Amino acid sequence: MEKIRFPAGFTWGAGSAAYQVEGSPAADGAGPSSWHTFTHRRGTVKDGTTGDVACDSYQRYREDAALVRRLGLGAYRFSVGWARIFPEKGRVNSRGLDFYRRLVDALLEEGIQPWLTICHFDEPMWLAREGGFARREAADHLVELGSVLFRALGDRVHRWITVNEPTIHAVSGYFTGEFPPGRKFALKSLFHCLHHLLLAHARLCQSWASFGGRGSIGLAHHSVWMTPADARSDRDVAAARFMDSVANRTVLDTLFRGAYPDEVLARVGCFLPRGFASDLPEMKSPGTYLGINYYTRIRYRWSPFVPISRAAEVRPPGVPRSAMWEISPEGMAASLRRLREGYGNPTCVITENGFPLPDSLGRDPRDDPDRIAYLTDHIAEVGRAIAEGSDCRGYFHWSLMDNFEWNLGLSMRFGLLRTDFATQERSWKKSALWFRRLVEQNWLDSNRGVAGRAGSESG
Ligand code: GAL
Repeated sequence: MEKIRFPAGFTWGAGSAAYQVEGSPAADGAGPSSWHTFTHRRGTVKDGTTGDVACDSYQRYREDAALVRRLGLGAYRFSVGWARIFPEKGRVNSRGLDFYRRLVDALLEEGIQPWLTICHFDEPMWLAREGGFARREAADHLVELGSVLFRALGDRVHRWITVNEPTIHAVSGYFTGEFPPGRKFALKSLFHCLHHLLLAHARLCQSWASFGGRGSIGLAHHSVWMTPADARSDRDVAAARFMDSVANRTVLDTLFRGAYPDEVLARVGCFLPRGFASDLPEMKSPGTYLGINYYTRIRYRWSPFVPISRAAEVRPPGVPRSAMWEISPEGMAASLRRLREGYGNPTCVITENGFPLPDSLGRDPRDDPDRIAYLTDHIAEVGRAIAEGSDCRGYFHWSLMDNFEWNLGLSMRFGLLRTDFATQERSWKKSALWFRRLVEQNWLDSNRGVAGRAGSESG
């Protein structure tokens, strides 16, 4: 048995996002949101579902807060529905804000630390109609939302996440079209959106400081480990390096160095907003910690057929995969090593990590050994990174319960708790019991992961 210990005071939590769990999209004077509008358009969500009800957490938030406590977790990550607080441009809806006051109070009553994400993918429709984050004004609007939240909740909320995954927000909205506004190959809008989200993050940090700066604030970066299909091929190495620059270093270099990577400027710099360079000194604003959302690795080979990046994804046979992605705990280690070695070892928190399992008939959906194995291997890497000097202060499982998984709908399940979407009953999966034990003991037996299980089978 390899016992991996976590530091005293390490934060263990679970996460969610407003549109994925709340339901009640029009309650208490909320305005329409980009995700609500998008999911009601035909063909946008794989299984045809919407977030109209989702986990009904808008009604059941007390029950959910109690479940977080029963899991033994010290923290809960959630986001606010922007359109609940600003149903129209410039008008604050106090009833919408009251919901988050009640949620925060319920968490605090259960002894749970609230971690509030200000922008997790969804935008009010009035903003989306104006062009969303493809336009610079959106950054000002997000800062306006931030200042309402800092003022209303800053006495009780001391952990802030400004923006969730700026790269995914931009790429899925303007390149793959899987997220609203559903545009494809719109490179100019993609890079404008990314730049404005990063600018908004920096300004949210300033605004938080001007409200007294209690606690900590950071951005949640989607860290993907980009590797060459063949490490001996210079072209594959170059293809993976370019994808890494776009997916990871655009965020890390602007936050920590106030610069876009040279390769990004050389190949796609023409898509950035005019005058972007004058924003960079302000954008060098990492906050007090970096959030890392880590799930997977992507392998690339060089291809003359892919415009600009010359990078084509490959999925070699025999490589372990979940229902969505390659399984690669080494990428968790690589993400943390890079922060240590390349960016001055900033304080960080794993703000997301988890395993998707669609429901399949004939299997008890609460029996999820694959999730336990995935978590064991990934959390072990977090523990090893800490032993090697990473300043990682916490780990949030994605997610607390099965919820509305964006364009994949209700069928892709990530929860520790199983949600029965017909009855709204929440039940405990085996992974929930396993996670509760991990949190209770604050150490992990790494041999229970995939590697260890394979080893014991062959041995
Ligand atoms: C992240 C996102 C979460 C969740 C997760 C699982 O990109 O922030 O909201 O959906 O992926 O796919």
